[in-house]
Amino acid sequence: MSNETAWREVDDYFCSTLLPADPVLEQALRDSDAAGLPPHAVAPNQGRLLNLLVRLQGARRVLEIGTLGGYSTIWLARALPPGGRVITLEANPVCAEVARINIERAELADRIEIRVGRAADSLPQLLAEGAGPFDFIFIDADKPSNPLYLEWALKLSRPGTAIVGDNVVRHGAVADPHSTDANVQGVRRFLELMAAEPRLSATAVQTVGSKGWDGFSLAIVET
Ligand SMILES: C[S@@+](CC[C@H](N)C(=O)[O-])C[C@H]1O[C@@H](n2cnc3c(N)ncnc32)[C@H](O)[C@@H]1O
Repeated sequence: MSNETAWREVDDYFCSTLLPADPVLEQALRDSDAAGLPPHAVAPNQGRLLNLLVRLQGARRVLEIGTLGGYSTIWLARALPPGGRVITLEANPVCAEVARINIERAELADRIEIRVGRAADSLPQLLAEGAGPFDFIFIDADKPSNPLYLEWALKLSRPGTAIVGDNVVRHGAVADPHSTDANVQGVRRFLELMAAEPRLSATAVQTVGSKGWDGFSLAIVET
């Protein structure tokens, strides 16, 4: 059995054992696929991890950068207490429309706001509007912009805010200082900025599973 097959089988086992059937989320993935969106949503057990992290954090205000079809957004929003809110940023209007329908079907439209446009434009607007501080920030969009997103995440945070960055392994290339891949360079700079930022305590963890070899970073704003 290949590594990939074994990872998938274990993920299937974990998901079928620990996660109840979820027709709304399953339909969200099917509709995203039917609309031609890339299969880049987090895996179900990773979605549940995000949900648990938001609950551990007691977060009421969540910011997501990179909505796609709203799959992770639904997991995040379901973790919120009454009155909680997710703002999710998406550049692609087709993705945003698929997400809007998925979120409506999940009966979460009252607690999720999708902002359509480049996150580099939406983030300063959020700050100008006084939309922050956010308690939990999930960065999952174009990786070359990760350093910029970290800067804005800090501006939109408070002491105690958790910042999660997805897809930080880049098939192992993240460890290559000579990589010319803009995604790898973006993630490396993102991690280096986190390390150099005295306000942050950060780590990163590799994962294997149905999405292959991947990983995420987790940071807490200290002051
Ligand atoms: C990995 S997918 C997000 C997956 C989603 N968080 C999930 O797990 O279900 C990345 C998304 O970021 C969006 N994106 C890419 N560049 C962007 C930008 N500059 N501003 C906002 N969104 C962007 C893409 O259109 C895509 O939908």
